[in-house]
Amino acid sequence: MRILVTGANGLVGKKITRQLLSGGKHEVYATSLKKLQIPGAVTFTSNLLNADINFMVDETHPDVIIHCAALSSPDACEVDRFACKRLNVDLTARIAMACNDYGVQLILMSTDFVFDGLKGQYAEEDRANPICYYGMSKAEAEQVVASMSAPWAIARTSLVFGYEQRLSRSNIVLRVAENLIKGNPFRVAFDQIRTPTLAEDLARGIEAIATNRATGIFHLAGSEIISVADLAARTAEVFGLNPELLLPVSTEMLTEPARRPLNTSLCCHKAIEQLGYSPKGLTEALRLVYSQMKLDGYNP
Ligand SMILES: NC(=O)c1ccc[n+]([C@@H]2O[C@H](COP(=O)([O-])OP(=O)(O)OC[C@H]3O[C@@H](n4cnc5c(N)ncnc54)[C@H](OP(=O)(O)O)[C@@H]3O)[C@@H](O)[C@H]2O)c1
Repeated sequence: MRILVTGANGLVGKKITRQLLSGGKHEVYATSLKKLQIPGAVTFTSNLLNADINFMVDETHPDVIIHCAALSSPDACEVDRFACKRLNVDLTARIAMACNDYGVQLILMSTDFVFDGLKGQYAEEDRANPICYYGMSKAEAEQVVASMSAPWAIARTSLVFGYEQRLSRSNIVLRVAENLIKGNPFRVAFDQIRTPTLAEDLARGIEAIATNRATGIFHLAGSEIISVADLAARTAEVFGLNPELLLPVSTEMLTEPARRPLNTSLCCHKAIEQLGYSPKGLTEALRLVYSQMKLDGYNP
């Protein structure tokens, strides 16, 4: 298959690109805002906000576009709603239109933050009811994609973690490691419940959506439902770091710009049954990240 990945400098886009290349079966085009190098992929930089999307699709002729580019920080979205809408909603709409024009399947990366977090263990058919602007923008992008004439899929995921060099944005496991290695205290919410997702597991799930030409909404998350504070403690345990530096606090005490939904754990039964999705156990996933970091001589 010929596949175009947007946002390939981010953790999710990079792992997806690597996964697609690993079997040697796909021709992969990867794009990002800043310069990017992924051996085996045809990479190019482009500010998609100004790019001619039809031209990009015409030049690359993809069978599938995996759209990861986004303003993915909930706080950044809350602070700059205009930028958030432009990137998360308007750009998605332009890519969806180009996919309609060329009959290309679109896979949109979406989030557990489309839910209000009051219920937990959300299934694909549960009603979206976002409580922060990032979640709202993603829910709106989902609606745009769900009304496409070309085939589409939406993959919602939750608290993705993993290791790559020079990431444009860090993630919870790397932040815990970085702070604890430096001996810094690190505050973590005990009341935010998630299904933390190893980026490699997510990437395999996305490849399965693409190669099966699967359509509709899929939840691709981790196998364990756990609080962010307990995830941090498990990270400290697996990485051999001092757990006493972790300071469990309530979400209210974190006073972040964007409201955080409390329990956004995702239920992945549909992906397990239809795509053969099989996320690793959390401890095994953290051990994998730790081994990648050690191999790379990680030094925060
Ligand atoms: N990470 C999570 O926990 C999580 C959870 C749920 C859903 N998701 C979704 O998964 C997707 C990927 O997440 P991520 O964590 O990998 O995000 P990320 O690290 O923030 O990466 C976003 C990517 O978008 C690119 N980008 C931003 N503005 C652009 C522009 N104007 N033109 C072209 N590219 C632009 C960035 O390029 P540069 O790096 O070159 O600047 C970067 O590669 C997002 O849609 C996010 O909403 C993520």
